[in-house]
Amino acid sequence: MMHHDFFATCTTGLEFITARELTALGAEVTDTSKSRVFFRAQWELIYRLHLYARTVNRFFALLARAQVRSLQEIEQVAWQVPYEQWFENRYAFAIRSERDGTHDFTSMDIARVVGQVVCDRFVAHTGARPPVNLDNPDVEIFSTLVDDQYLLGLNLTGSSLHRRPWRQSLAHLTALRPTLAAAVVMASGWDDRPLMDPMCGTGTLLIEGALWRRGISPSRGREEWAFRKLIPHDECLWQADLEASASVGGTSPPLQGSDWNARYIEIARQNAQGAGVTDIQFAVANALTLPPPEQPVVLVTNPPYGVRMGKPSELVHLYRKLWHKWSAEYVGSRIVVISGNPAFEQIAPIEPVAAYDFLQAELPCRLLIWDLP
Ligand SMILES: C[S@@+](CC[C@H](N)C(=O)[O-])C[C@H]1O[C@@H](n2cnc3c(N)ncnc32)[C@H](O)[C@@H]1O
Repeated sequence: MMHHDFFATCTTGLEFITARELTALGAEVTDTSKSRVFFRAQWELIYRLHLYARTVNRFFALLARAQVRSLQEIEQVAWQVPYEQWFENRYAFAIRSERDGTHDFTSMDIARVVGQVVCDRFVAHTGARPPVNLDNPDVEIFSTLVDDQYLLGLNLTGSSLHRRPWRQSLAHLTALRPTLAAAVVMASGWDDRPLMDPMCGTGTLLIEGALWRRGISPSRGREEWAFRKLIPHDECLWQADLEASASVGGTSPPLQGSDWNARYIEIARQNAQGAGVTDIQFAVANALTLPPPEQPVVLVTNPPYGVRMGKPSELVHLYRKLWHKWSAEYVGSRIVVISGNPAFEQIAPIEPVAAYDFLQAELPCRLLIWDLP
């Protein structure tokens, strides 16, 4: 079986969680960089990764990775790639070009040069060039230049995997990306204790948690799989993996979610139903007046930050009251918080046992874990 080089894109700062996840799924992780995890795997593993990797936005075949100083060098690097071994010339392609740093050429210049190389290589090897379609391509090649680091990748996924089929995506202004929510639950150290989120909004953390612990694919029902148009694709193997994923379903400790907004709870219930995890208990409640838990729990939540939701002075008041309540009532529990507001950590009565910085849509955030004595 042939091994290929691939990379996955994920939340900036939480690459180590994705690296751990891909390793557990059978990939050989070789490197990480900002929001990317590089790995080697047999082509066949790509199907399993697409179904079960929860923290990944997209997978790419690594076409080229090089240090470059000019547009000419990018052209030379692009010439070395055997595009004709990845897709047929009947499929329309697009170059998606991004650039960061100081250069005397634009990302459009890169897209033009690389697009021409792809066409010329196809003509040289197959006698005809593939059509270009920027709006609705069959095949997307991502070209990224950051300072002098150049990366060419073939999109195996299509649209990002964070667009979960179960989710009503426009239902909440500050709903978490499910790929980030999955990373948080996977890093939380959730054990046999119940998982609870007292400010659960549309239920993203709990639903991703339930899917993960029960081994259910978070992309069940997704129809768009870009790899199906690529030459290495084996439809029989894919269908076998897909069919197997349809019947998976284990068990987990109980999950409970609440939010004071009844509309969000209604959507959370619908989302859970779409994901096939209908036993999560949702309730409309104020986090500050919830009854104390009957046993220690793992509480994982992202309270309002004050960026798009909540006034700063009211937030500090809320954070103080939350800490007061949790310190008194959640003895022996673990508190896992996604915080975009430093006040939450500053007010905490004890030091966190772990803290990780990451970016959520360019907003610096922290994943913080406390163990209440
Ligand atoms: C950042 S959002 C959480 C989004 C959620 N993780 C999701 O993915 O949909 C914060 C949530 O806290 C809720 N909230 C704020 N104060 C609350 C309180 N005192 N009690 C219960 N919920 C509260 C808001 O209604 C909002 O849904």
